[in-house]
Amino acid sequence: MTTAPLVGGDATIRFVDVRKRYGRRVVLDGISLEVARGGRLGLIGPAATGKSVLCKLACGLEEPDGGTIQVLAESVVGRREADLGPLRRRIGMLFQNYALFDFLTVEQNVAFPLEQRGGMTADAIAERVAERLRAVGLAGSERKLTAELSGGMKKRVGIARATVADAELVIYDEPSAGLDPVTTQKIYDLLAADQERTRATVLAVSSDVVALARFVDEIAFLYHGKITYRGPAATIADAPDPLVRQFVRGDLEGPLEERGAEAAT
Ligand SMILES: Nc1ncnc2c1ncn2[C@@H]1O[C@H](COP(=O)(O)OP(=O)(O)OP(=O)(O)O)[C@@H](O)[C@H]1O
Ligand SMILES: [Mg+2]
Repeated sequence: MTTAPLVGGDATIRFVDVRKRYGRRVVLDGISLEVARGGRLGLIGPAATGKSVLCKLACGLEEPDGGTIQVLAESVVGRREADLGPLRRRIGMLFQNYALFDFLTVEQNVAFPLEQRGGMTADAIAERVAERLRAVGLAGSERKLTAELSGGMKKRVGIARATVADAELVIYDEPSAGLDPVTTQKIYDLLAADQERTRATVLAVSSDVVALARFVDEIAFLYHGKITYRGPAATIADAPDPLVRQFVRGDLEGPLEERGAEAAT
């Protein structure tokens, strides 16, 4: 895989000391994180550590309690919902819970970002949507309503929608969850081919660390509200941080907190 050249200081995502809590639960406790333009960063971490919250913050779908967030050189903090439309149209987002429109068909869901962006004829949109649905293996399902789809099919519709408009930034929250190993590999091959073509900046969250590591350049580890490690994806299984190695190997017994205490001694 090739890496797009980094443009000095030109981060597409820049989180500085970002804090987020829900009630008394502190989820993100001072996150500083950058993704350079054209870079591909994977984000891993135990369940319920705030990976999805971080993705939503990057699109301005949640407000942080502190810190600053810049995406595509714009601040997303403290903006009114209506102001964020143009910025969101430059971002392709795959949500962990799909977030498809139930009242639209598969092809209408995938066409949505193109219609929002405007400037394409109906024929051109139909052609592009058909190409995306073939790419994710959903040709023939164009007219189905999302309620008729399996979880894996919804995931693939979400991927088609996130990639249809050649966004400058794509955020994939668990692109392979619920997919079989063959489909998982096909999906990652598709995401990699898209990125080669568009040079989009990528933030990808995945529990499938092996597949993720083949797709991204670097991996960050989110743990107890902080990014405790960031390093090359290719060598993530041999990361110098023992907690990261344990997490990647999947040999954590019992709560991670206990193992964390052990690792520190
Ligand atoms: N809108 C919300 N209101 C209240 N709590 C929330 C909200 N969104 C997320 N949380 C809480 O924030 C924490 C982090 O959630 P998040 O979905 O980001 O976890 P995650 O790291 O993506 O986990 P998973 O690996 O299971 O997807 C969880 O404890 C969750 O319950
Ligand atoms: Mg999540």
